[in-house]
Amino acid sequence: MEFTRGNGMGNTSLHWRYAVKQFDATRKIPADDWNDIEESLVLTPSSFGLQPWKFIVVTSPDIKEQLQGASWNQTQPRDCSHMIAFAALKQVTEEYVDSFLQSVCDGRGVSMDTLAMYRQILLGFLKNQEGKHFEWATNQVYIALGQVMAVAASMRIDACPMEGIVRSEYDRILGLDGSQYGTVVGCALGYRHTDDKYALAKKVRFSRQHVIEYRE
Ligand SMILES: Cc1cc2nc3c(=O)[nH]c(=O)nc-3n(C[C@H](O)[C@H](O)[C@H](O)COP(=O)(O)O)c2cc1C
Repeated sequence: MEFTRGNGMGNTSLHWRYAVKQFDATRKIPADDWNDIEESLVLTPSSFGLQPWKFIVVTSPDIKEQLQGASWNQTQPRDCSHMIAFAALKQVTEEYVDSFLQSVCDGRGVSMDTLAMYRQILLGFLKNQEGKHFEWATNQVYIALGQVMAVAASMRIDACPMEGIVRSEYDRILGLDGSQYGTVVGCALGYRHTDDKYALAKKVRFSRQHVIEYRE
C-alpha cells in the first residue's frame, strides 16, 4: 500500500478519497473486494465488544432507487454499486448480552462461569444507560462507518457517507419497522463517475495546529 511514514502526508488513500457525489452506475465492486469490505464491517471494534448493529447491504436496483427517494433525492444510493444502511440496536437486552457472551465462549473455548463478572459489569453499564441504548449504539455504528470508508479508500473503492437520509423511510423500505434495529446512517460504495467535479476539489480541513493540542 502507499502508506508513507513520517513525511507529513500520512496515508495517501485518505487524501485520495472524497465524498463522492456522482457514482459510475455501470461499475460494480467485484465479489472478492466486497468480501474484504464486509470483513472490515465485521471486525469493527465496539465498546465492550457488544457489536450493537446490523449492516444492511442493498444491491437491488429497485430498492436502491427507493433509497434515493428517502435521501433527499441524492443520486448516490441509486448509482453506487453497494449501498449500506447502518442500523443500531434500539435496546440492548439481557438476552442480547447473553448471546454475545455465548459467542465469546464459543470463540475462545471458555465457560460462561468465567465471564460472570464481565456479565455483571455489562448489565450494570446497560442499566445505567437505560433509555439511551440507541444513542450509545449509534456511536458504535459510526466507528463502523469510519472504518469501512478508510478500508474502502485503501482499496481504491469510492464511498459517500450519508446522513442526508430520512431514517424512518429507510426503516420502512428496508423492513426494519418493528424490528430491534433502527437506521442511523448510510454509505454508498462504488466508483466515482469521471464527470464528478468534486473529485478535483481541493480537500479543505482545519490545520493540524488548529485541531490537535498537546499536553506535554
Ligand atoms: C456522517 C457523514 C454524513 C454525510 N452525509 C452526506 C450526505 O448525505 N450527502 C453528501 O453528499 N455528503 C455527505 N457527507 C460528506 C461530507 O460532506 C464530506 O465528508 C465532508 O464535506 C468532507 O469532504 P470529503 O469527505 O470529500 O473529504 C457526509 C459525511 C459524513 C462524515
